[in-house]
Amino acid sequence: MSEKKNGYSLEDWQRHYDEDDLGWDLGQVAPPFVKLFESKLIVPGKTLIPGCGRGHEVIYLAENGFEVTAVDFSSGAVNHLKSTVEGRNIKCEVLHMNFFGIDSTHDGVYDLLIEQTFFCAISPEQRPSYVSTVARALKQGGMLAGLFYHTGEEGGPPFNTTREDILKHFSDSFEIKHLSKSKNSAEQRKNKEWLVILVKK
Ligand SMILES: C[S@@+](CC[C@H](N)C(=O)[O-])C[C@H]1O[C@@H](n2cnc3c(N)ncnc32)[C@H](O)[C@@H]1O
Repeated sequence: MSEKKNGYSLEDWQRHYDEDDLGWDLGQVAPPFVKLFESKLIVPGKTLIPGCGRGHEVIYLAENGFEVTAVDFSSGAVNHLKSTVEGRNIKCEVLHMNFFGIDSTHDGVYDLLIEQTFFCAISPEQRPSYVSTVARALKQGGMLAGLFYHTGEEGGPPFNTTREDILKHFSDSFEIKHLSKSKNSAEQRKNKEWLVILVKK
């Protein structure tokens, strides 16, 4: 992803899909989510995945009994994911829309939200909207389980996330249950991801 001070537009993201230039795509579910599931730290329930891309987390969790709603505004992401789920007969909902525009039918609905390279994809000015949208969608006591990208670099996307950024943005609406560098990240993300578990107050 090349540097762009104020973040990417929809057209910028779509271009990446058109050109099959998906540097962020691990080609598999991020290993820390597998570990969270196998350790029963995340359990099946209504689950929201914003900025889902080609949806490796969507597929993994839906196949393991989670009731997943996936959201992405790029047709390249949504079309790819829809054809995968149709081909494999996986049950989940795929919404082609701007995550910040989800309507009130999503309020207080979700037990779990999975964050995977979406917070770093939006411009830092959108972070307060991210927090309010996520807080709105989760039930009280609902959980955000996420990997937040500590690039250590200026600009983006991906935009850097520090420990302080997480505390600053989430402490008012969430209890911080866990915040440390993930131990089993994919090779290209080693020591660069915060594994974060938040519970909505
Ligand atoms: C860096 S990619 C990550 C995709 C996926 N989570 C993954 O890790 O493979 C960011 C995704 O967020 C989507 N996106 C960015 N802004 C969005 C918004 N406001 N609403 C919905 N999707 C958005 C892009 O289309 C892109 O698919």
